[in-house]
Amino acid sequence: MNVLVIGGAGYIGSHAVLELCENGHSVAVFDNLSTGHLINIDSRAEFIQGNILNNDDLKDVFNGKFDAVFHFAALKAAGESMLEPGKYATSNITGTINILNQMVENNVTNFIFSSTAAVYGMPEYLPVDENHPVNPINFYGHTKLAIENLLHWYSKLKGIRFGALRYFNAAGYDINGRIKGLEKNPANLLPIVLETAIGKRDSMDIYGDDYNTPDGTGIRDYIHVNDLATAHLRTLNYIIKTKENLTLNLATGKGYSVLEVIEKMQEIIGKNINYKIIDRRPGDPSELIAVSKLANEYLNWKCNYSDIKTILQSMWDIYSQQKSL
Ligand SMILES: NC(=O)c1ccc[n+]([C@@H]2O[C@H](COP(=O)([O-])OP(=O)(O)OC[C@H]3O[C@@H](n4cnc5c(N)ncnc54)[C@H](O)[C@@H]3O)[C@@H](O)[C@H]2O)c1
Repeated sequence: MNVLVIGGAGYIGSHAVLELCENGHSVAVFDNLSTGHLINIDSRAEFIQGNILNNDDLKDVFNGKFDAVFHFAALKAAGESMLEPGKYATSNITGTINILNQMVENNVTNFIFSSTAAVYGMPEYLPVDENHPVNPINFYGHTKLAIENLLHWYSKLKGIRFGALRYFNAAGYDINGRIKGLEKNPANLLPIVLETAIGKRDSMDIYGDDYNTPDGTGIRDYIHVNDLATAHLRTLNYIIKTKENLTLNLATGKGYSVLEVIEKMQEIIGKNINYKIIDRRPGDPSELIAVSKLANEYLNWKCNYSDIKTILQSMWDIYSQQKSL
């Protein structure tokens, strides 16, 4: 198949590009390189630099013939989205509408969308499944839910078939070390642990140690990016075969606390990681884990690399090579 991967130079997108290339698909990457890296893009893929907010850029790229679009390009910092909602609405919602309109114009029907756990908001029960109410508590989550809602309408009215994949905490690096670009200005725990491990940061902050968890720090569900990538390809095959839409959680069902993550990292590198306990952040649940029963059932998908040791080791393999960056 010919697949257009929008945001394919970024962290998760580049792993999906690799998976597509490995499976013999022809891939074009469209990215403005705002947070992505050219070195992340597999040499078998074509690269087109452009912005989803520029309809002329999109028109040019849709001159090519595509069977499917994977859409990873978005702003993703929940905290920043509360301060700059306009920026997030434009990038995430308007940007996606621009893509969908080009797809309709060019008769491209298959769309795989990066959604997020943030659509659920504060968990009412654990583990979160796809029947859990959606009630985002930050503007970022709202933008992703707004897009999911739009997708149902584009499907009904214009025949778009979609997979909306709600990732929990994407983590790890390609198990064979083929993706090397580090995340820029990370706001998530794991890259911050790694930046502290390589000495890029002297110390890291832990937001609260008085949660109702065994060690008092927050528990999250971490899923390896290679496992995410496999799920994307399987979702594409599923929606093409069945002509049905899918909205799925991608998670492991198992959570680790912040302190557990730091301890495992210390075991791998054989030295201490400095941290400071500071106040909780508003809106952080004590625990967030999810089940991917639908992905298991519809895609016959399960995680192969998402145990925490494999995740951290795969990150250390990349970060430790790049201490000087
Ligand atoms: N990382 C996570 O844990 C996580 C969890 C849930 C959902 N997601 C979603 O997954 C997707 C990918 O996340 P990521 O972690 O790989 O982020 P990332 O920032 O590494 O990747 C995003 C890519 O999109 C590109 N991009 C951004 N704005 C663009 C624009 N206007 N035009 C063209 N390209 C643009 C960037 O240059 C980058 O290459 C995002 O939609 C994010 O919301 C991520």
